[in-house]
Amino acid sequence: NPTHERTRVLPAGSKAVAAAKTVLLDGRTVAIPTETVYGLAADATNGEAVARIFESKQRPSFNPLICHVSDIAMAETFAVFDPLSRKLAEHFWPGALTLVLPLKEGHAIHPLVTAGLDTVAVRAPRGFGAELIEAMGKPLAAPSANRSGRISPTSAQAVRESLGNSVPLVIDGGLTQVGVESTIVKVEDGAIRLLRPGGIAAEEIETVTGQNLDRAGSTAAIQAPGMLSSHYAPNAAMRLNATEVMPGEALLGFGRERIPGANRARAVLVLSETGNTVEAAARLFDYMSRLDASGATCIAVEPIPMEGLGEAINDRLARAAAPREG
Ligand code: TXA
Ligand code: MG
Repeated sequence: NPTHERTRVLPAGSKAVAAAKTVLLDGRTVAIPTETVYGLAADATNGEAVARIFESKQRPSFNPLICHVSDIAMAETFAVFDPLSRKLAEHFWPGALTLVLPLKEGHAIHPLVTAGLDTVAVRAPRGFGAELIEAMGKPLAAPSANRSGRISPTSAQAVRESLGNSVPLVIDGGLTQVGVESTIVKVEDGAIRLLRPGGIAAEEIETVTGQNLDRAGSTAAIQAPGMLSSHYAPNAAMRLNATEVMPGEALLGFGRERIPGANRARAVLVLSETGNTVEAAARLFDYMSRLDASGATCIAVEPIPMEGLGEAINDRLARAAAPREG
């Protein structure tokens, strides 16, 4: 893995935009805050730059990356919008919705970004990412800024811990607001397929479009989004829908009431006392890593309802609890 003398960390702001732009135009990577999680960004039109993302993440290269844009107009330079996808972009961008769209003839996106597919995942982020892309004037490819198989980072410190010195520049924008990755959908024959639940609740998309999402999962030729079973794995084992805390376990709680045995837990963190799934999503990865650091061999997780962002939270928890590939 490449190491730089020292990873530079800059607070988000106009100086950071200029510094990040210089590094990116030089074909190197920068870890940046978005409203969902931190991304490891590179110029999406530069193959060598994109390759550096895979190098830092130690990610299997068959997993395609999201292209981040400033607006619909920039997305249209390389992707084709059907009317329904356009409506979704107009309503939810900038924001935590990623659209999978056909690539446009003659586009400048490097094939490493799309893993050679004829489609591309696109979203317009909020905050620092948006400012940076605006300044760059071109799309940035960026997966979450963690080593492959680790929890997605919601703070600059988590990026530093996950990627070590393998990235030259990290922009610190504090804790991210949404806390889970974007929702990914793909419109096919007028139907909206949910490829990954995320920061925009599926119900919200159903309300805006007046149609139900197809949750049957991906039939695409690629590994379905985020499907590597160890993708969100902490070091500790995870036990979901726990009804009791076992000796040696830490507890990830939800709501006002604690399950029996909570008083003997190694550590307790409550995602949302009031049972708010938006608040819970924002804290999820941070609390998982903090409980992991408590040294518990297992993290017991109280049941979390499937409403609102509960679907995305349960999806990430199920992946974290899935059998490890080692
Ligand atoms: O919130 C987010 O989405 C964050 C921030 C940084 O934007 N990014 C993120 O990227 O989560 P990443 O690379 O960790 O996840 C992107 C997912 C992958 O699971 C990949 O399989 C899927 O998007 N994907 C990318 N291109 C695709 C395509 N053409 N068709 C289907 N899925 C695709
Ligand atoms: Mg990721």
